[in-house]
Amino acid sequence: MEFLCSLAFSLQFLLLFSSSLFTNCLTLNDSTSTHHHECHQHESNALLSFKQSFFISKYASYNPFSYPKTLSWNPSTDCCLWDGIECDELTGHVISIDLSSSQLYGSMDPNSTLFSLVHLQSLDLSDNDFNHSQIPARIGHLSQLRHLHISQFRESTLSGEVPTQISHLSNLLSLDLNSYVDQLDFPFINRLQLKESTLRSLIQNSTRLEQLGLNFVTISHAHKPYISAKTLFSPM
Ligand SMILES: *[C@@H]1O[C@H](CO)[C@@H](O)[C@H](O)[C@H]1NC(C)=O
Ligand SMILES: *[C@@H]1O[C@H](CO)[C@@H](O)[C@H](O)[C@H]1NC(C)=O
Ligand SMILES: *[C@@H]1O[C@H](CO)[C@@H](O)[C@H](O)[C@H]1NC(C)=O
Ligand SMILES: *[C@@H]1O[C@H](CO)[C@@H](O)[C@H](O)[C@H]1NC(C)=O
Repeated sequence: MEFLCSLAFSLQFLLLFSSSLFTNCLTLNDSTSTHHHECHQHESNALLSFKQSFFISKYASYNPFSYPKTLSWNPSTDCCLWDGIECDELTGHVISIDLSSSQLYGSMDPNSTLFSLVHLQSLDLSDNDFNHSQIPARIGHLSQLRHLHISQFRESTLSGEVPTQISHLSNLLSLDLNSYVDQLDFPFINRLQLKESTLRSLIQNSTRLEQLGLNFVTISHAHKPYISAKTLFSPM
């Protein structure tokens, strides 16, 4: 088609010929550029194996309006049309995943295929039950991320240390690792922990960061085990 179009362009001016073919090329181009792009096969596969790594459990989400968004993820349909998925209209790459309150139950796989979706700009996995697993270090591969939301509404279902690689996300505008829990009921040991050095790198590197939610995240220092965010941000 490209060859035909260039040929048509040349002929158009040299021979005043084939104006209908010329118009046809323009029309074709017009229609392809406004048409929604279809999902890339490898991204569709990556999403499907991410889906398959979780059980669906209505107890996994706190929001009463939660529902299992991944049930609409059907391999025979365009992944850009799946619930919670948004693609770039021009390139067709998956740029946004919203699986908040989606009744997902299971552990986060450190090697999850999710981390191959390198065009992602927004990832929301809030209000699911990740079975006290850690945030995988490969989250740092998603360098285009602007929004990363993994907040929890009961006890935290994530535990362990927030990986230092989170500070590689230099395009972040918002990072939400909040837990909304009853302080008295909450078991201290299950909190997410964030090293002070990681927090400092994040703030240095993610210069566009506007929102940072660290409610019930323990900030730990190499020498003093726990300090509060208030201490860290108070003027020197
Ligand atoms: C279609 O239009 C785009 C710009 O919108 C241009 O880059 C591309 O070369 C055009 N393709 C053809 C086949 O004319
Ligand atoms: C939840 O975590 C426990 C302990 O690590 C593990 O044995 C179990 O297989 C996990 N369950 C799921 C559904 O991932
Ligand atoms: C993840 O994949 C790497 C190789 O790509 C492998 O060495 C490592 O053991 C895997 N880790 C897990 C937890 O599966
Ligand atoms: C800042 O981000 C870049 C890439 O986004 C990464 O290579 C670098 O290691 C990060 N720096 C720190 C201190 O994390």
